[in-house]
Amino acid sequence: ARTQVGIVGAGPAGLLLSYLLHAEGIDAVVIEARSREYVERRVRAGVCEHPTVELLREIGVGARLDAEGLPHHGFSLRFDGEDHRIALTELTGKAITVYGQQEIVKDLIAAHEAKGYPVEFEVSDVALHDLDTEDPRVTYRDSAGNRRELVCDVVAGCDGFHGISRPSIPAGAIRTFEREYPFAWLGVLARTAPSHEELIYAYHERGFALHSMRSPEITRLYLQVPHDEKIDAWPDEEIWSELALRLETGDERFSLREGPILDKGITPMRSFVTEPMRYGRLFLAGDAAHIVPPTGAKGMNLAVADVTVLSRALVELLRYNRSGLAESYSDTCLKRVWRAEHFSWYMTSMLHVDPAADDFGRRLQLSQLRYTASSRAAATSLAENYVGLPFA
Ligand code: FAD
Ligand code: DHB
Repeated sequence: ARTQVGIVGAGPAGLLLSYLLHAEGIDAVVIEARSREYVERRVRAGVCEHPTVELLREIGVGARLDAEGLPHHGFSLRFDGEDHRIALTELTGKAITVYGQQEIVKDLIAAHEAKGYPVEFEVSDVALHDLDTEDPRVTYRDSAGNRRELVCDVVAGCDGFHGISRPSIPAGAIRTFEREYPFAWLGVLARTAPSHEELIYAYHERGFALHSMRSPEITRLYLQVPHDEKIDAWPDEEIWSELALRLETGDERFSLREGPILDKGITPMRSFVTEPMRYGRLFLAGDAAHIVPPTGAKGMNLAVADVTVLSRALVELLRYNRSGLAESYSDTCLKRVWRAEHFSWYMTSMLHVDPAADDFGRRLQLSQLRYTASSRAAATSLAENYVGLPFA
């Protein structure tokens, strides 16, 4: 078979790219290793930047996000036993929306189904070929086990950090930059009302904790744990008692609401960037090209920003045979990527307890937290990054 753009991966990057291309009359096929049920249930990001929300609205897939998403106009930095609110909207004029990534994935899959745009689930043995030619190919087995080949004009590698696209690039054609952190996040989804109206990023001597939510009935919580921690080491009761310790304040009005845990898992934390985000006719987008630690809530939003740039570049290339935007794709994206890398590293460093840090390091962290909470200039800088800088 032949298509203009072969898209590997049906996460936010692959699905959104496909939708944007089809809307411009460009033919694309998405292939995904997992089942539809699996990708629709995978619990991940929850914070949508202002530009992400605007884009989803503009292209007509924002109806449920508008109805069910929770607009947030601020969040708390919790340290020294009290809350210090970062007033996002007052400082920037913008808000963020709490809406689960898998809800965006569901909405995009439903939109594909409604319009008849192809998404193939449960494919296997995916391999990329002839990437340095004008007819790159994707080979794979479909869900029935039949061998398939897709000859393309362009391949979009949207298959996340563990996908096959980035490793298909010859060593030497790309450079990578990486930083690992000596901790991970244990995340839980619980059936209980949020304990506070807003997100709470808590710095505590026992480690970082985050209070978030998905709806008025569902709470999302995270705990800093050692980087090689196993989930079996954390029975539900211990998760609740540790969260209560780290989120506690001197104020009696705050008490952590508990409930049945619906999902739990551990996510390692790393910073990672690939340069350039392209090799021949293969373009990388989203987590396939870069990873940020989750503290700044930037990963999914970066994926959305990448494919916005990529869809414009591919329309120019494939409809008008103009390659300028395709040539500048990587440079354009990397500016935003490195801004998000810095912001995510900064939020992570400010809020986590580094087991190797000394008292000097801990005093610096507290000073940075107190300055951010007390200076309008510092809080505004944090807020403008958090709500999302405008797309290129
Ligand atoms: P993915 O969502 O990883 O999608 C890649 C897809 O490719 C997957 O469906 C995978 O199954 C498929 N695939 C893999 N290999 C193959 C193959 N060989 N063939 C075919 N398909 C393949 N980001 C935020 O912006 N805000 C947040 O609040 C936030 N919180 C997070 C919390 C947690 C606990 C985690 C884990 C992540 C969080 N992120 C957050 C990051 C965000 O989830 C990712 O950045 C986002 O999923 C990236 O989207 P993507 O489409 O690039 O990749
Ligand atoms: C959530 C995840 C994040 O990484 C973050 O910074 C804030 C909220 C969440 O899953 O709700």
